[in-house]
Amino acid sequence: MKDITIAIDGYAGCGKSSTAKEVAKKLGYLYIDSGAMYRAVSLHFWRHNIDFENESEELIEELENIYIDFNFGRNKPFPVVTLNGVEVEDEIRKPEISAIVSQVSVHKSVRREMVSQQRRLGEAGGVVMDGRDIGTVVFPNAELKVFMTASIDKRAERRLAELQSKGIPASLEDIKANLAQRDHIDSSREVGPLKQAPDAVLIDTTNLNFDEQVDLVCKLAKEKIAKKSNKKTSQSRS
Ligand code: CDP
Repeated sequence: MKDITIAIDGYAGCGKSSTAKEVAKKLGYLYIDSGAMYRAVSLHFWRHNIDFENESEELIEELENIYIDFNFGRNKPFPVVTLNGVEVEDEIRKPEISAIVSQVSVHKSVRREMVSQQRRLGEAGGVVMDGRDIGTVVFPNAELKVFMTASIDKRAERRLAELQSKGIPASLEDIKANLAQRDHIDSSREVGPLKQAPDAVLIDTTNLNFDEQVDLVCKLAKEKIAKKSNKKTSQSRS
């Protein structure tokens, strides 16, 4: 089976990460959560009291002290993000980090650093990466690009259920406000804004269940994989 690159972009909380994880599992691909990387940078700034509202010299210099990776352990169902070698998967999902991550992500220096690390992690192909600018900036040549959306009410309900299942307290109204604020900042920033790539397939998950959205992306992926295999076969014959 030929390895392709799958880029899944879209609005906050529309099911990108859960879909991307399951698609990667079904195809035997690597899953990379680019949002977790921006969340880990935010956690680092938050812990070290770095003023993240301005792209100061201090902030730019502090990026040199941040090394983000993923642990691909045998006993882990999915890769777990690490910040300077320590797993931070649960901490980065907390509301205080959700509240600042989009402000941290507007900075050019932060994006430059993350895009370069994302390319390194996904360069071998056979990867599903989700985020905001994967199909437009990180992997503009990805064979499959998906742009996901869903109504804000549905997204907030799903995010509340996810946080509650992890025992993280949250209110529906606060979640909704956070999603709307992040969508606004993500779509209007100058560098790597959230936008649909012209060649991305739009999937609205408002009325889809989890299995339906996974099946849809897997079907699209298999078509692209078959196309790539056919191309290689016909090239080797000629
Ligand atoms: O899972 P959720 O949709 O809540 O967000 P996420 O994927 O964890 O990303 C958190 C935040 O990181 C986003 O709201 C963006 O501000 C930022 N981000 C970004 O700027 N570029 C990416 N490729 C991924 C995330």
